[in-house]
Amino acid sequence: MSATPASPDRIAVLVSGRGSNLQAILDAIDAGALPARIVGVFSDKPAAPALSRVAPTLRWSASPKEYASRDAFDAALGDAIEATRPDWIVCAGYLRILCDAFVERFRGRLLNIHPSLLPKYPGLRTHARAIADGETEHGASVHFVIPELDAGTVVAQARVPVRTGDDADALAARVLAVEHPLLVAVLRLAVSGRLAEQGTTTTVDGHPLFTPLLLDSAGALRAPGTDRPV
Ligand code: GRF
Repeated sequence: MSATPASPDRIAVLVSGRGSNLQAILDAIDAGALPARIVGVFSDKPAAPALSRVAPTLRWSASPKEYASRDAFDAALGDAIEATRPDWIVCAGYLRILCDAFVERFRGRLLNIHPSLLPKYPGLRTHARAIADGETEHGASVHFVIPELDAGTVVAQARVPVRTGDDADALAARVLAVEHPLLVAVLRLAVSGRLAEQGTTTTVDGHPLFTPLLLDSAGALRAPGTDRPV
């Protein structure tokens, strides 16, 4: 008798805009490169193009203006997410700050992709700020979400050069190209049960993660200074 295969991990995705990171997740699932299932796509922008990337039955959106407070909106969002019983919740271009109660509710399974090499450039306009500061390197980070903005443990990063003559759009496009494989690589770790946040410690394969993993040119994650894929 063959064993029943484990059901794939359930992923909920929060979006506010275009949804290219969501598409990267969908494509990886379709290609068999990410054993997971999208159980819902949630947005604070009912007109977000990202929503149309999934079937109507998977979409939830509402305008925060219809709610009495930030907490009330996040409570409704949280209830809708919880109803889909996700193992992981991914903020992929979700541009609204989440209230502390929401973060605590899903803590340990809430990830965000941010377009900078955190802890550099939390917040908005990361590409323009990196150029203005004369940075020679920029990139993206996937991190656990904690109440403090863009400050949770960084699981992995992807680096790109800043080139002479770059404007914010050119740099953003270079970063976006590495965001997609970065997010998929981290989710692959997550859905295989290898990534965990226990209290304030993030572990990979049970070992504390002291420095972020790095995405290599083949799309694999490596511990810095080693040539062994994780
Ligand atoms: C990405 O750069 C992401 O890092 C940032 O917002 C952008 C969203 O892009 N938080 P998309 O909606 O996934 O195309």
